[in-house]
Order: sequence, then structure tokens, then C-alpha cells
Amino acid sequence: MFAVSVTPDPPELQRVWDANAAFWDECIGPEGNAFHRVLVAPAQMRLLRLQPGERVLELACGNGQFSREMARVGAIVTASDFSPVFVERARKYAKDAGLNIEHRIADATDESHLLAMGEGGPFDAAVCTMAIHDIAELKPMASALFSLMSASGRFVFSVMHPAFNATNPVFVAETFDEDGDVTTSYALKISGYHDRSPERGTGILGQPEAHWYFPRTLVNLLGPFFKAGWVVDGLEEPAFPAGMGAPERPFSWRNYPAIPPVLAVRMRPLPKLNG
Ligand SMILES: C[S@@+](CC[C@H](N)C(=O)[O-])C[C@H]1O[C@@H](n2cnc3c(N)ncnc32)[C@H](O)[C@@H]1O
Repeated sequence: MFAVSVTPDPPELQRVWDANAAFWDECIGPEGNAFHRVLVAPAQMRLLRLQPGERVLELACGNGQFSREMARVGAIVTASDFSPVFVERARKYAKDAGLNIEHRIADATDESHLLAMGEGGPFDAAVCTMAIHDIAELKPMASALFSLMSASGRFVFSVMHPAFNATNPVFVAETFDEDGDVTTSYALKISGYHDRSPERGTGILGQPEAHWYFPRTLVNLLGPFFKAGWVVDGLEEPAFPAGMGAPERPFSWRNYPAIPPVLAVRMRPLPKLNG
């Protein structure tokens, strides 16, 4: 990763995601990648406990793979992203799958964009899948979602785990020979947590442009939501199960089953006292 001293503005962030969208979509595919299928989607579905007919808003939906999963269990989904290229891909996949999902272009750092999606009434749930670490500012989202949510609403998000996977870990593998018994042990070397600032990096090897990450401590991740009136009432820290078979790369997360690369969180709005 390359540290940058100046946080880029929303048009530049959007330009980079537009430039990467086709490549990301082709790598991830319409059903999501192993991260989504094994770690993220099952955790989010457990935390959401969706009921058919519930209205759900997804922010930063990318190619819409999780939006479609929610629509398939009967949720009424509005899916949004600030990248028109991603939104177009999501729209096409939904149409091809015969799923009725409303797609919108919306910047999650612009409160007015988010509030405009609430014209159909309150949402029962909101979701943000593996994208909060890519979003420059969380206060507008925390505040707008609080206004958009029904009294029984919940906001579920997944993020690269702030302790293990948002701080530029060094993947370590050590091979030992003890009396002819050769084993390899896997570890992570974490060299920072409190001192991270926005930096550019590679999410998928070969992507056209490095994109920006906004690594946050747990306090900085959850703090804007606490201030806006949210409380946490569900958490998961999914890791790949041991024995999934040989991974494609030696430093794949699949070799680190004891360490969770993902944090999934459920939040609920505190009662709105003034109505
Ligand atoms: C790592 S991708 C995740 C996409 C999708 N949620 C998934 O899991 O496949 C991050 C996504 O965040 C979107 N994004 C980043 N900043 C955003 C913002 N300020 N508003 C809306 N979307 C944003 C990008 O366009 C991209 O689709």
C-alpha cells in the first residue's frame, strides 16, 4: 500500500471505482467470490434474519451479488452505489435473473443522496457489504440510515477486520522439521493499528488502478454510528474453516483459519424519543 497525505475528493474516488468496476465484476462474478460465499453472506444473512416482504436498502452494492441474495429470499431491495458502471452491471444481473430490484446511483458520503432513497417509507433493514473500509466518511451514512430506519430496523455491515485485515498485515509462513516431522505454521505480523491513514492499495491482483482504503480502529469505525443513535447488538468474526483444501496462493486467508479476516456487525437504532 502507498500512504497518501491528502484524502481524495468524491469525484476522484468514484472515478477510480468506475475504472475498476468491470475488472472487479469479472473477478467476483454474479454470485460473489469465496470471501462472499463462505464468510460474508452467511454471517450477514444470520445477522439480518430477513422476513419476506421486508424493505432493505443496500449501500455500495458493487455488482449487486448480495442484493440479489436478499431478493431471492423475498426482500424488497433498493441497491445503490456511487459507481454508475457497477450499478449498470447490478441492474443487468438482476434483470437476467428475473429479480425486481430498484437500483440507484448514490454516494454514501452524501446524506441528501441517501435520504432521497427513503421516499417509499422507512426501511426494515440496511446493508453495506465489505465496503465501509472504502468509504471516506461515515457520519452522513450513520445519520441518514438512522432517519430512514423503521423502529424495528437494523443495519448490518461487513468490513475487513480492523484488527487483522485493515492494517496492512504481513502474511508469515514458517516451516519446521522436528525429527523428520515437517510442518508449516501460519501467522500474521501486525505493525500498526492506531496510526493508519487513508492509503491506496490493491483489492484484487491485476485491477486497473489502486483504490483508496480508509482503515479505521474499532472506535473510529463504530463511533460515528454510536453518536447518531445506533447500538451494536450482534457480531460475527468469520474465518475460513480449516481443511477447505489447498488454496490457490500460499498466503491465501484460507491458510489462516485461526484468524478472522472479516468483521460483521448488526446495529439497531435507539428509540427515537422525539418521534
Ligand atoms: C470492495 S467493493 C464491494 C462491493 C460489494 N458490496 C461487494 O461486496 O461485492 C466496494 C464498493 O464500494 C463502492 N463505494 C466506495 N465508496 C462509495 C461511496 N462513497 N458511496 C457509494 N459507494 C461507494 C464502490 O463503488 C464499490 O462498489
